[in-house]
Amino acid sequence: MWATPFVSPTTNMTTSVNTNRYYMTPDIETGNELIDSEHVQIFDAVNELLDACSSGHGRDKIAQTAEFLAGYVSKHFSDEERLQKKYKYPNMEKHLKFHIKYKKDVADFVSRMKTEGATVQTLGELNGLASTLINHIRHEDKRLAAYIREKS
Ligand SMILES: [Fe+2]
Ligand SMILES: [Fe+2]
Repeated sequence: MWATPFVSPTTNMTTSVNTNRYYMTPDIETGNELIDSEHVQIFDAVNELLDACSSGHGRDKIAQTAEFLAGYVSKHFSDEERLQKKYKYPNMEKHLKFHIKYKKDVADFVSRMKTEGATVQTLGELNGLASTLINHIRHEDKRLAAYIREKS
């Protein structure tokens, strides 16, 4: 089954960049308070970075916002991994593999954002990263939260 996109990809006529903002919606709520609140923070950090890019902020502000996003993603993944260990989550290995790869992709993105700034490519990459995470939340994080609920 194909996952429905979180936001329909609309494009800006002049730049062809998706400038949608990201929000928590009921279909991606996991029901775990900590996990959901951290996902909201991640969306806020993505939106802040999109704002920093679209409002023509300087390279420093963009770099700082991108760093914050990477740091927060990392903190969130550690929190989820701690819960997985605590509850002996059976899908831990697969979930962890995604987290590791995603953190690397975010780190690569941050360094490109620092050197290239807000371009059609880097903004496209940011939207791609956001969509990938939303897919992960929709499937894997929801599965994790359901397991925790069942075990606690
Ligand atoms: Fe996760
Ligand atoms: Fe998550």
